[in-house]
Amino acid sequence: MSQFHIKNLEEYFQVYRKSVRHPEIFWEEIAEEHFLWRKRWDKVLEWDFNKPEIKWFEGAQLNITENCIDRHLAAKGDKTAIVFEPNNPEESAQHISYTELYQRVNRMANVLKAKGIGKGDRVCIYLPMIPELAISVLACARIGAIHSVVFAGFSATALATRINDSDCKLVITSDGSFRGAKTIDLKSIVDEALTSCDCVKTVLVVKRIHSEIDMREGRDLWLQPLLDTADSNCPPEIMNSEDPLFILYTSGSTGKPKGMVHTIAGYMVYTAYTFKNIFQYNDDDIYWCTADIGWITGHSYIVYGPLANGATTVMFEGVPSYPDIGRFWQVVEKHRITQFYTAPTAIRALAKEPLSFVENYDLSSLKVLGTVGEPINEEAWHWYNENIGKTRSPIVDTWWQTETGGIMISPIPFATPTIPTFATLPFPGIQPCLMNEASEEITGNPAEGRLCIKFPWPAIARTIWGDHQRYKDTYFSAFQNKYFTGDGALRNHTGYYRITGRVDDVIIVSGHNLGTAPIEDAVNEHPAVSESAIVGFPHDVKGNALYGYVILKETGEERNQDNLRKEINQLITERIGPIAKLEKIQFTPGLPKTRSGKIMRRILRKIASGDTSNLGDTSTLLNPEVVQDIMDNVL
Ligand code: WT7
Repeated sequence: MSQFHIKNLEEYFQVYRKSVRHPEIFWEEIAEEHFLWRKRWDKVLEWDFNKPEIKWFEGAQLNITENCIDRHLAAKGDKTAIVFEPNNPEESAQHISYTELYQRVNRMANVLKAKGIGKGDRVCIYLPMIPELAISVLACARIGAIHSVVFAGFSATALATRINDSDCKLVITSDGSFRGAKTIDLKSIVDEALTSCDCVKTVLVVKRIHSEIDMREGRDLWLQPLLDTADSNCPPEIMNSEDPLFILYTSGSTGKPKGMVHTIAGYMVYTAYTFKNIFQYNDDDIYWCTADIGWITGHSYIVYGPLANGATTVMFEGVPSYPDIGRFWQVVEKHRITQFYTAPTAIRALAKEPLSFVENYDLSSLKVLGTVGEPINEEAWHWYNENIGKTRSPIVDTWWQTETGGIMISPIPFATPTIPTFATLPFPGIQPCLMNEASEEITGNPAEGRLCIKFPWPAIARTIWGDHQRYKDTYFSAFQNKYFTGDGALRNHTGYYRITGRVDDVIIVSGHNLGTAPIEDAVNEHPAVSESAIVGFPHDVKGNALYGYVILKETGEERNQDNLRKEINQLITERIGPIAKLEKIQFTPGLPKTRSGKIMRRILRKIASGDTSNLGDTSTLLNPEVVQDIMDNVL
């Protein structure tokens, strides 16, 4: 018998030991007892981190939507699967039962089929947080199409890059989206993107904000009339375990975004099992994760993980500050939320506001609180614990990545004693290790080093779409026979992990993963710019903010600097999206470089964060004089 639901620390250690000693037996029991398979696997696991190649449950057949929807119908047909809470609190919430979800997903699946979409085709979904987003995701999975959700805050250029990279045939979008007091014209962003995407034949448009939009003859169709006439039964496509389920783009430290490919069976088993345990989900609970489905958190812990458990999951369309800063707590009270999962940046922003915005609401339904996306600082942790959890609700600080598919290091509530700033212990099946500069594993505690994982887990991404070599180079080449996370971590005397932050050129801003290279590329496109370097610096709400050092061409030197700053940020907004805007832009005559021409980011990072002690030996630089100039003019 597998222990699907871990309830105390002793059980955790027992389960963990088993998962490490006999990983295949461990995962096989979970897969066998808790999911619906059309055909059993021939082999639980086959792996080789050198190729790299990872296969879980090979030979098995299934459809993930049968696991997330169909199998719950008999006992839970009337239970709410999705609660939709609109941007505007005056608009009524929607409660979508499992039966209704079944019908809506099947109709959508039939619409996609009628538009020529089938197994293996890529569908881009560019939608706000409305029910059609989750329904589209599941409809793709129903027919074996591969969804690629692009967060609807990305710009036209960023969208086009992602559509072209995976050759999407069809795009699902809406006329626009509501975001607090604002509306955003999503359809015109799609139109602009598609001027450079020949692969897209059809655009399906959800009516959300009822704005006037252009509909291109022969390409664009309103979705609702098609759904109205579609059959509400669509037989599930029977898929192989290792068929791709979705592609989700994440930024890399260099070049274009990486289309991480997740496959069906392992992802399903892992997200379902982690969801159940890390949120201690029970049948009458109402679980709310505030992320957007455009990120991995939404894929795994709004859609697939909760639905595979027959849970009730909330989709929130709005923002924490609209109509006022009490919105999150108003929603908690309104829907009697039991598990609440959000980002440290949101907590820090809310913690700055008067407590009356919290105290106005009854939060007594809460049982478990979660955070994800970046390290949570001690102050924010205590504020969350005291004011939201009333010191009764354990906080799960969950560390994971787009690439890992599911939560990797996290407390199990009511089992693992928590310590602020520590993600604590590895989840069953996860074998983390810390590596030193000499590429050796650091054994013993305490320890600090680069965080790697030694053994495969079911939800690890299998490749980068169209670029397996990059997958190998990025994750499996830094350390022999190990998956390298890109993060640094320390392990205390009891074996608890604290994630200390990225050790590569990725910066986490408000929980969003941003690569420096694409931002620098956007800045360098400005006609007055000759070169730039972007670094992160600590920010009390965002965790990190972006600091740009920009060298101007001669023509730019006469220009008004504030106008230039605006233009540069405008370019970034167009190329990537507003989340990548620079907080500070310092114009500088040069950048510190090594003799081989590499920018010394370490020095720039220190100066940007106001720490000019221990800059190290700068005399070996190609241009040591520039360091003083940069320090004198720091913003
Ligand atoms: C990077 C992954 C996984 C969902 C959202 C982000 C950072 C994530 C934590 C945490 C400290 C964290 C890491 C990681 N990160 N969670 N609990 N404590 N850092 O997914 O965009 O792929 O970013 O986010 O640096 O590598 P992502």
